[in-house]
Amino acid sequence: MKKRLTRFDLQNMKESGKKVVWITSYDYWTAQFAEQAGMDMILVGDSLGMCIYGYEGTIPVTMDQCIYHSEAVRRGAPNTFIIGDMPFLSYQVNVDEAVRNAGRFFKEARVDAIKLEGGRRVCPQIKAIADGGMLVMGHIGLTPQSSGQLGGFKAQGRTAKTAMELIEDAKAIQQAGAFTLLVEAVPPEVCKIIRDQLTIPVYSIGAGVDADGQLMIVSDLLGIFQAFTPKFVKRYANLGEETLKALIAYVEDVRSGRFPDPVHTYNMAEGELPQLMAALKK
Ligand code: KIV
Repeated sequence: MKKRLTRFDLQNMKESGKKVVWITSYDYWTAQFAEQAGMDMILVGDSLGMCIYGYEGTIPVTMDQCIYHSEAVRRGAPNTFIIGDMPFLSYQVNVDEAVRNAGRFFKEARVDAIKLEGGRRVCPQIKAIADGGMLVMGHIGLTPQSSGQLGGFKAQGRTAKTAMELIEDAKAIQQAGAFTLLVEAVPPEVCKIIRDQLTIPVYSIGAGVDADGQLMIVSDLLGIFQAFTPKFVKRYANLGEETLKALIAYVEDVRSGRFPDPVHTYNMAEGELPQLMAALKK
C-alpha cells in the first residue's frame, strides 16, 4: 500500500533532489486515479471555482465548497498528502478568521496542509496558522485571488525590481513558518534563485524546471477545461474531445434505436415470459 508522505519526506526529497509531482483534484474519482498513478501530493485548489462551478475566477469560491471537495478527495486518496486551498476572504480579514478557517480543513476534511496566497502581507496569518500547529504552504507570483490588482492572469517577476519583491516575499514566508512554497507563472531563473535561497521546498506551476517539484491543474492536464490554456500547460490527454464524442454517440444511438440493444438488457427467467403473457390474457 502507498505510504502517505510527511513534511519530513518532502524536505528529504528536496535535499536529495527527488522531484515532487502533484496535481489538483476536486472529486473522488480523480483523487483515486491520482493515488493510483503515484502522485506525491494533491491540491484541492480553489481553481474548482472555474473547473467545477464554471465561475470566471476564484473570487466567488466559499469555505464550504472547498471543504466539501476536500472531503471527497480525501475519500478517494486516503494515502496521499492533501493540501486544502484557502479561498478568497477566508484569511484576508484577520488572523483569527484565518486560523479558524484553516482549522476547518483539518477537522472536517482531514487534509495534511493548507495553502494561502500572498507575500509579506499575509505573513501574520501564516505565522498564526503555523503557531496553531498546522502546516501552511505559501503561494506567490501569479496569485489568482488578486488578479485584479495584478492586472489579469499574467506572469510575474519579469523585471529585476518585481523579481526582488518576490524573493523578499519568499524569504518572509519561510521566516513566518511556512513548510513549503508554491511559485506560479514566474521566469525559471527567478524561481531557481528562490529555490536556492530557501531551505524549505519550493514548487512550481509555470515557473520552470528548477523547482523542487511541479504542480499542474488536472483539468488542464487532461484537456477538460476549455475556456483558456495558459502558456505553461502541457496537455497529456484530450478528455474534453473524448467526452464530447462519447456523448454525441450516445445521443445518436438512443435516437436511432441502436441503444439499448439485447446485450445491454436483462432476460426474463427461463419459462417466465409465456406465463406472464398467459396471466395477462385472463
Ligand atoms: O487553486 C489552484 O488550483 C491553485 C493553483 C493555480 C496553484 O491555487
